[in-house]
Amino acid sequence: MARDSEEWAAYYAKTGARPPRQTLLFALDQFDRIRSAHGRLAVDLGSGGGRDVIEMLRRDWSVIAIDAEAAAAAALTARDDLPEGAVLETRVATFEDAVWPGCDLVNSSFALPLCAPDGFAAVWEKISISLKTGGRFSGQLYGTRDSWAGRSGMTFHTRAEVDEILSGFDVEFFEEEEDDSVTPRGESKHWHVFHIVARRRGD
Ligand SMILES: C[S@@+](CC[C@H](N)C(=O)[O-])C[C@H]1O[C@@H](n2cnc3c(N)ncnc32)[C@H](O)[C@@H]1O
Repeated sequence: MARDSEEWAAYYAKTGARPPRQTLLFALDQFDRIRSAHGRLAVDLGSGGGRDVIEMLRRDWSVIAIDAEAAAAAALTARDDLPEGAVLETRVATFEDAVWPGCDLVNSSFALPLCAPDGFAAVWEKISISLKTGGRFSGQLYGTRDSWAGRSGMTFHTRAEVDEILSGFDVEFFEEEEDDSVTPRGESKHWHVFHIVARRRGD
């Protein structure tokens, strides 16, 4: 069941100010072990209300925030907690159509499963190619036991498929979650989620 723009806008209002995702924090901390973030570029795919983008900007990353919904860019740029001097570009585009430059980090929290199955491989290829050697992906994929599995326009993976997707990466953080809880829209659901931080190997 696809959401309409009004539903997404309500989602951004409800979730935008929530804390950043653990996968993003893990990835940022890994970078910080080497050197400061100044000059590093991150692309956030499906940036929503900006809960992750704000954290990256706060930690001195430059960010390109991409989302199919114009309301996401509007919610992000209207935030009153944007750090002064933040280097932020918002783009309204689908994962499938978006083009982005080489970068150090692609973050995509709870968004890539909203890619249709016939487009997923090409989107993952774009992510992989855009990452510099040593660059990282942080985010989530959904498993086949998720209660949304089978919804049209969404992609679900088995554990073996996730391993294959990550074959060109060193996996630094991996958690397979299965849990029953309630979505931000108040819907009960069974979550089957792969939480991932992975570092791109050299060619
Ligand atoms: C569940 S929200 C997650 C938002 C944010 N990453 C977070 O963690 O709160 C998914 C976001 O992906 C965006 N989205 C869904 N399908 C998309 C697509 N094919 N291309 C680009 N953005 C998409 C939605 O508009 C929405 O903002």
